[in-house]
Amino acid sequence: MSSFTSHRTSRLPAFCLLILVTALLGGRPTLVRAQSTDPAAGLDYGSNVAGYLFADQLAQRKNPAFDRSIAATPAMGWNSWNAFRCDIDEAKIRAAADELVALGLAKAGYKYLVLDDCWQSGRAPDGTLLADGKRFPSGIKALAEYVHKKGLKFGLYSSAGYKTCQGRPGSRGYEWTDARTFADWGVDYLKYDWCYVPDWQDPFDAYARMRDALVATGRPIYFSISAGLRADVMDWAPLVGHSWRFYKDIRSCWDCTGDRAANSILTIIDQASTRSVALKSRPGAWNDADMLEVGNRGLNSDEQAAHFALWTLLASPLMIGTDLSKLTPEALALLKTPTLIAADQDPLGLQGFRYRDYGDTEIWRRWLKDGADGRRRDMFVLLNRGSQPRRIELDIDDGATVHDMMNNLAGLPTTDGRYAVDVPPHAARVVLVNGMQFKN
Ligand code: GLA
Repeated sequence: MSSFTSHRTSRLPAFCLLILVTALLGGRPTLVRAQSTDPAAGLDYGSNVAGYLFADQLAQRKNPAFDRSIAATPAMGWNSWNAFRCDIDEAKIRAAADELVALGLAKAGYKYLVLDDCWQSGRAPDGTLLADGKRFPSGIKALAEYVHKKGLKFGLYSSAGYKTCQGRPGSRGYEWTDARTFADWGVDYLKYDWCYVPDWQDPFDAYARMRDALVATGRPIYFSISAGLRADVMDWAPLVGHSWRFYKDIRSCWDCTGDRAANSILTIIDQASTRSVALKSRPGAWNDADMLEVGNRGLNSDEQAAHFALWTLLASPLMIGTDLSKLTPEALALLKTPTLIAADQDPLGLQGFRYRDYGDTEIWRRWLKDGADGRRRDMFVLLNRGSQPRRIELDIDDGATVHDMMNNLAGLPTTDGRYAVDVPPHAARVVLVNGMQFKN
């Protein structure tokens, strides 16, 4: 994200004008205050107009042709950024496509292959966006064809600003041209960032412009919003995107300190459980906790497993962010854990949240779709944030059964209505409980 953007631009004059004009026209508008003011979250919604829309304006900004069915469950795939940053080329991307298939990840559900920032070099005289000819000599269309032939879907990255976050050409002012180019190339997914955007730009308008341009192409394209540094992102992003980042860029660390403290796994989950964020996810529209760091240095294997389990509890998109050619068998098995993938993709689409907070230990809970037997199903992540081993206990209702999701073991023992487990430092245990009562 660029410091070029400001989140505090005053919108008061425009807002007053809006009220005046509406009053003069004799309408009796219903003022809709964004529901996401959660003082506990410490977020500042400023005076952005997106948070103060009249109901009829809100309706106008919706695009009925925007197809949410392509995101009935959170997107799963691979993205080049966490693994390679700007060091990308067509050989690496093709290799990633090969590996997604060869390693069984595509079969497990990871179907989107997304080329993040740095693939662009400039624009042709007619405005068409051009790929970096040295790194992508065959062009993006050929790359997308290669990816499609593997049975995968192809994604690209751009920005709502003049430039992307790495200073490449952005789509601002070229939304319709770029959307047509993307559709022509066979793009199935667009990650759309928020760098180099003028301070005064309303983000809702900027994202709606690209959404409408994508819809107009007639090609179904998953619209992934990346504007996690905007304090007002929860006010408008759920209305325009299939998924949206709700916080800062992830770093491969459990509880980093210093400059990176805000980018750690623990900080991101804390943000995810705030009321303003947690209640917004639903089928077709998902909170995005950012791309996975499974397989990367910086997290040990317990931390990677806890990170992955929590992302599935959060119903986050699962975008692998590592060099697949270096994946260990353990990390591969983690990414393919069937019970966790099934939880992430649960059709009910409710995000999980922090259910019990005991300090270093916490219990997170997600309500999944009822089983075929009609019994309630709950996923619990028993999390040890701290650096000492801890015992975590979970109350289990009479008749309910406990299943270890990581190791796929049914019928775990309970004592006096409690399931108890020792959890190593920076680790999680994940259980599915069948038959909890609603009272919990
Ligand atoms: C932003 C995004 C990242 C990545 C980079 C690329 O920081 O949040 O996920 O796309 O831009 O420049």
